[in-house]
Amino acid sequence: MRNIIITGGAGFIGSHVVRLFVNKYPEYNIINLDKLTYAGNLANLKDVEDKPNYKFVKMDICDFDAFYKLMQEEQIDGIIHLAAESHVDRSIKDPFTFARTNVMGTLSLLQAAKLYWESLPEKYEGKLFYHISTDEVYGALEMNRPEGVEPPFSTTASSAEHHHAYGDDFFYETTKYNPHSPYSASKASSDHFVRAYHDTYGMPTIVTNCSNNYGPYQFPEKLIPLFINNIRNRKPLPVYGKGENVRDWLFVEDHARAIDVIFHGGKIAETYNIGGFNEWKNIDIIKVVIRTTDRLLGRAEDEDMNLITYVTDRLGHDARYAIDSTKLQKELGWEPSLQFEEGIERTIKWYLENEEWLDNVTSGDYLNYYDTMYGKTE
Ligand code: NAD
Ligand code: DAU
Repeated sequence: MRNIIITGGAGFIGSHVVRLFVNKYPEYNIINLDKLTYAGNLANLKDVEDKPNYKFVKMDICDFDAFYKLMQEEQIDGIIHLAAESHVDRSIKDPFTFARTNVMGTLSLLQAAKLYWESLPEKYEGKLFYHISTDEVYGALEMNRPEGVEPPFSTTASSAEHHHAYGDDFFYETTKYNPHSPYSASKASSDHFVRAYHDTYGMPTIVTNCSNNYGPYQFPEKLIPLFINNIRNRKPLPVYGKGENVRDWLFVEDHARAIDVIFHGGKIAETYNIGGFNEWKNIDIIKVVIRTTDRLLGRAEDEDMNLITYVTDRLGHDARYAIDSTKLQKELGWEPSLQFEEGIERTIKWYLENEEWLDNVTSGDYLNYYDTMYGKTE
């Protein structure tokens, strides 16, 4: 039996991790700890909320006393830490909230875990603090793809020798940290604290750095769900700058599967990069999203291309992200399961079939969901 806290389980990636663990490991106690910020939504987990091995606890990760008490009461031996402020644009407007949650919140969890685990006879044996981080901590890569060489847009998901689509370098586990946005600076800082708790106190920790995720339940402030929702409502699609920036996209369930594999088989104190070798220029992925959405809505081909609206660039906009996940693929045998074309089709279908979810999160109604369910207010 293992007692595991998953922080940020009501968010996008966290909800997929909770669902996977609750369904796959009936012998574990899974506690979803979430503050339910604007990004947290319990409706994401309706299908598992009644399972006997699942429990939701509404808590701020910065609340040291409450977290320490919860660790004692639930005899926690594993933490998978996803709770964070996650949107770069918000971090540019409000960096303090990012420092509070991402840095101080992570530190608070680490310190509470240290005090609890060190008080046990077995100390750190069989314990794990697994911290979920991002490729953005590595900074930005150059775009130096030779002229005239078009990257293949149909990817072989499992192929580690895939292509250097837009440049001749990748982010490796050994790449020096060089964050540019307040979001990535806060994530980098939290990564350093996690490693410091291993190096200083001997806490068993693992850090993983993943590329951009896409899939169901992503809050429609991020590129793909925002654009699907806007196409649906025939609203402008704000493309930052020239739309030339490159991101490396992974289907969210593949990230959740990687977290499972690493939680159970990863080496203590190691870092693993997670990504599917799937680089896209924003403008190209936007065109795929428009075409697919129009087709699924029964609209004429390219009908909504005119919604593309070039707007002022994001401040400090990183040019290119590209993750090398060879270590994870070779050492732990993980591979992305989906071709990108299949993943994006499934994703768009999901949003179009879940209009109520979309309308709910865009109206903010879901923010009352917890109170309605549990009959109390904060
Ligand atoms: P999200 O914004 O969808 O969800 C974040 C969750 O954390 C929400 O449920 C929110 O309520 C909760 N939360 C926020 N502040 C909290 C606090 N103070 N206390 C308790 N809970 C709090 O984020 P996401 O996109 O699912 O990302 C999850 C994690 O994965 C983050 O750590 C992020 O940095 C990392 N990550 C995300 C991506 C991506 O593409 N989305 C890629 C790589 C890594
Ligand atoms: O790389 C991993 C990161 O991916 C995660 O750590 C972050 O939590 C996650 O938000 C994501 O960060 P990005 O900034 O890359 O994602 P976002 O969806 O905000 O933007 C993707 C690209 O699209 C980026 O180059 C900015 C651009 N963009 C975004 C929005 C929201 C636009 O052109 N227009 C938009 O309206």
